[in-house]
Amino acid sequence: MASKILQLVIGVAVVSVLASAAAPPQPPRIQADVVVMGYVPCKNGTSMKSSSAPGFPNAVVQLRCADAVDAAAGNATTDGKGWFRMAMNTSTALSSVASGCSLVVATPLATCNASLPETGTLESRLRLLVSMVFFPRGFSYVAPASLD
Ligand SMILES: *[C@@H]1O[C@H](CO)[C@@H](O)[C@H](O)[C@H]1NC(C)=O
Ligand SMILES: *[C@@H]1O[C@H](CO)[C@@H](O)[C@H](O)[C@H]1NC(C)=O
Ligand SMILES: *[C@@H]1O[C@H](CO)[C@@H](O)[C@H](O)[C@H]1NC(C)=O
Ligand SMILES: *[C@@H]1O[C@H](CO)[C@@H](O)[C@H](O)[C@H]1NC(C)=O
Repeated sequence: MASKILQLVIGVAVVSVLASAAAPPQPPRIQADVVVMGYVPCKNGTSMKSSSAPGFPNAVVQLRCADAVDAAAGNATTDGKGWFRMAMNTSTALSSVASGCSLVVATPLATCNASLPETGTLESRLRLLVSMVFFPRGFSYVAPASLD
């Protein structure tokens, strides 16, 4: 009797492992607690509207978080078309990541388009897309803090 129950338990475990292996590819095949992926437009002062602007290639994108959730911070570099993906292991709750973190493009905007301002950054808040995958809400230009 006991061995029958054990068999059933193992059977359920195997089925659930197979089920998760067959999950749709939407959450990328990286093992991580938090994944942030998206597109950085090469554009000044406007929020992101999918393909409204060319992508920002080779841009360093940083996830910056409030002190309390700093453990979630991470970096990524965009590909040739402006897409990036970063994966982190963190004990921080997803809701804290959503409310406490922002994406900041650290590469000077003029690198992408010489007519963009030399100072200032593109920044975006986060939106939880599915399970633990975040997307940028939309990058917009943030002027540098005045040093006067
Ligand atoms: C997260 O932790 C798991 C298990 O330790 C590990 O396999 C995975 O590579 C880690 N992912 C990242 C992005 O560090
Ligand atoms: C991200 O990059 C900056 C600058 O290179 C570095 O100081 C920081 O430690 C990095 N953060 C993470 C989480 O890798
Ligand atoms: C560069 O920016 C200027 C001014 O915003 C814009 O008119 C031009 O189309 C941009 N060029 C590229 C290649 O994005
Ligand atoms: C970029 O945006 C800033 C702030 O909105 C503005 O002052 C500046 O003139 C803009 N530059 C270009 C090239 O559009």
